[in-house]
Amino acid sequence: MLVEMPSDVAPIPYGRQCVDEADVAAVVRVLRGEWLTQGPAIEAFETALANKVNAKYCVAFSSGTAALHAAMAAAKIGPGQRVVTSPLSFAASANCARYVGADIAFVDIDPKTLNININAVADCDALVAVHYAGLPVNLRHLRERPRIVIEDAAHALGAMTPDGPVGNCARSDMCVFSFHPVKAITTGEGGAITTNDEELCNHLRKFRSHGIVRKPEQGDWYYEIEELGYNYRITDIQAALGSSQLEQLGSFVGMRNALATRYQQLLGDFSEVELPPTAPSGSWHGYHLFPIRVADRRRVFDSMREAGIGVQVHYVPIYRHPIYAELGFESSHFPETEKAYEGLLSLPLYPLLTKDDQDRVVEVLVTALSRG
Ligand SMILES: Cc1ncc(COP(=O)(O)O)c(C=O)c1O
Repeated sequence: MLVEMPSDVAPIPYGRQCVDEADVAAVVRVLRGEWLTQGPAIEAFETALANKVNAKYCVAFSSGTAALHAAMAAAKIGPGQRVVTSPLSFAASANCARYVGADIAFVDIDPKTLNININAVADCDALVAVHYAGLPVNLRHLRERPRIVIEDAAHALGAMTPDGPVGNCARSDMCVFSFHPVKAITTGEGGAITTNDEELCNHLRKFRSHGIVRKPEQGDWYYEIEELGYNYRITDIQAALGSSQLEQLGSFVGMRNALATRYQQLLGDFSEVELPPTAPSGSWHGYHLFPIRVADRRRVFDSMREAGIGVQVHYVPIYRHPIYAELGFESSHFPETEKAYEGLLSLPLYPLLTKDDQDRVVEVLVTALSRG
């Protein structure tokens, strides 16, 4: 049975950007200036982001996906090498291995965190550690460090671990962010990698721009293409928006945490709702998502969508997609991911979500559950 959406009430999305007049002014300043791309706003954004997360270097990209591809290339991951990631993620976390011809493998999730079961990671050249929903993977629990550890922190800008801010690469080689509008901060489309390794940083910059190396000693025009690179550059327009948004990162993630706490209070008494894992003490959740688990998810999802609540499911496990199933992955090998996927339902969560909106989400959810 469906819960009708009142005709005078706007739909509530599961996520959305928070852009203010200062952001608009920052973008307009770039539009009125000399450089729309390859200009100083990009370096300013990279410096601001590196400083924010206590990393030495930062390279910005046109998307998080481009950044993941570049991370693989810079780490010299390629054919014959094995990359492990979580199956409960967006496909880009695994696709990046395939872009460079490496073999991909999945390790089932830990049901207590919904992150990859880090204790079970073994026998791989690289790990893509996805901080699902914004809860940092505890890399201290890695039994055996692969040659390369890449954090996929698309959900976790603004999150903290006992080792410091996600992005400081205390236990990784590179940390990848995404700035899609539903993420902690936005540049429209965009991504970035932080690292403390100068060589990786230089390689990432080269890969981002066609593999070009300038050789001014042979003339100011002269450059060489040293490797097959791409145009994965971010624009100055996007970078200016990113710098402006970054100033509000603490407040954005604080608001996400406050709303998550309020969901926990409002839904705590409903035995039909399994709440998402919280951050252990000494850590701070990014709360990109608020993924609850319910029985009869399909019916609850349809009912809430019909009532104008933009719930979403994160994610269809990667191995279920035809381009992975055809590699031989089977759902039965990932029982915890399957169990989680059966009930997952992301409730709306973003800084501009009002308490009234949140009350409406809860009311619609509770009504849908009571009609089961
Ligand atoms: C976990 C994860 N990794 C990578 C990406 C890719 O980021 P982008 O959309 O910026 O390419 C996403 C995007 O949603 C994501 O959720």
